[in-house]
Amino acid sequence: MANATPGTVPLHLLSMGTGSRDMASLGMVRSRVCCYRTRKWNLVMCTALSGSGTEDAAIGEVVSKPRRFPRVAGMGSKLIGCGSAVPKLEITNDDLAKIVETSDEWIAVRTGIRKRRVLTGEESVRGLAIEAGKNALEMAQVEPDEVDLVILCTSTPDDLFGSGPQVHTAIGCKNAWAFDATAACSGFLVGLITATRFIKGGGYQNVLVIGADCLSKYVDWTDRGTCILFGDGAGAVLVQATAAEEDGLLGFDIHSDGQGYRHLNAKTGKVGMEEVISSTNGSTNFPPKKPDFSYIQMNGKEVFRFAVRCVPQSIEASLEEAGFTSSNIDWLLLHQANWRIIDAVATRLHIPSEKIISNLANYGNTSAASIPLALDEAVRCGKVKGGDIIAASGFGAGLTWGSAIMRWQ
Ligand code: ACO
Repeated sequence: MANATPGTVPLHLLSMGTGSRDMASLGMVRSRVCCYRTRKWNLVMCTALSGSGTEDAAIGEVVSKPRRFPRVAGMGSKLIGCGSAVPKLEITNDDLAKIVETSDEWIAVRTGIRKRRVLTGEESVRGLAIEAGKNALEMAQVEPDEVDLVILCTSTPDDLFGSGPQVHTAIGCKNAWAFDATAACSGFLVGLITATRFIKGGGYQNVLVIGADCLSKYVDWTDRGTCILFGDGAGAVLVQATAAEEDGLLGFDIHSDGQGYRHLNAKTGKVGMEEVISSTNGSTNFPPKKPDFSYIQMNGKEVFRFAVRCVPQSIEASLEEAGFTSSNIDWLLLHQANWRIIDAVATRLHIPSEKIISNLANYGNTSAASIPLALDEAVRCGKVKGGDIIAASGFGAGLTWGSAIMRWQ
């Protein structure tokens, strides 16, 4: 076996251990099924790789372990830790007024935003996600190797193929697997609900949900209609399994409608198509050009109308599932897009302004990061306490929207 080629699998090993489950794990290195690999197989793999002369951990080696827990389906979920991270550079409304024709007063009155953070230099979405994730684990007092799954909610990963695996590896979640979830400003809600489903249906114990985005890369900084709105950041929560009767996700509701796509998008694939230089098999569109993105295109008024109509309906549906009315809510925590949207939703639901969590003024719209970023600040300043009921709602491109009624700790 010492002569086996590193990274390849001798065919006779396919019949070892648990048979077909081992075969499945070979093709799904990032999947939880890796945990079915036998100790014997793990040893064989290490032996094979030790002959390669490389000092790096073998790819996949860290996940080649037996399961730590039996799968116990039907569990509830609780939020036990949160964290966040933002870039260093702060851009105020006055700074923007030097680039486009606008003013601090116009932006503040129409949106509630005063400043935002923007990624520069060596900073990356991945870096923010790692910092936020570590902070959430620290608050939860959960070790990285106790995490089973990391969901990186982002529409702006550093790599088109996703950044989740790099994030979980950098945090040290060596027993976890990871994937990216893309649902724009609803991304965190999608990730949170998905996490609870893995706990309920898959017997996972700890799932780290990270929302991280840098829409600043996709904003046209000469368009005053959009560049005033967005900022960069990351936020994270640790979702842990608990007894079904202690389930902290009390209700949820989630939707998408592609008809609204035209009102908010950042298209890809069309750029440069007019420069086609040859025709192949009768097609002037082959070979394809290197893809590129257009800047964020938004019909602000339509997005505003959509949010004010759909978000209250979604929260009401979640409240109904929870058996609550809006008077049972301690905190309203909406995606931080625009203060006028947040205020209109609160008014429709008869939720007083003192129950609204918002840090929009300081960070603008940070897309999938906005809900956990605001939650983290509210928890760390002592506003949100153990047992509090939070109604959270995300909405944005797709169009997508959803809500969740959840208990903090
Ligand atoms: N500074 C000064 N004037 C401006 C600016 C600006 N930054 N932007 C637009 N204007 C001007 C317009 O040119 C227009 O001038 P005109 O009347 O001479 O033509 C006037 O202000 C009114 O423009 P509107 O677009 O009608 O302004 P509106 O009141 O709709 O506010 C805004 C625009 C703030 C974008 C608002 O529509 C909004 O917030 N919509 C929701 C958008 C949103 O939340 N998007 C993100 C959610 S999804 C996601 O998170 C990805």
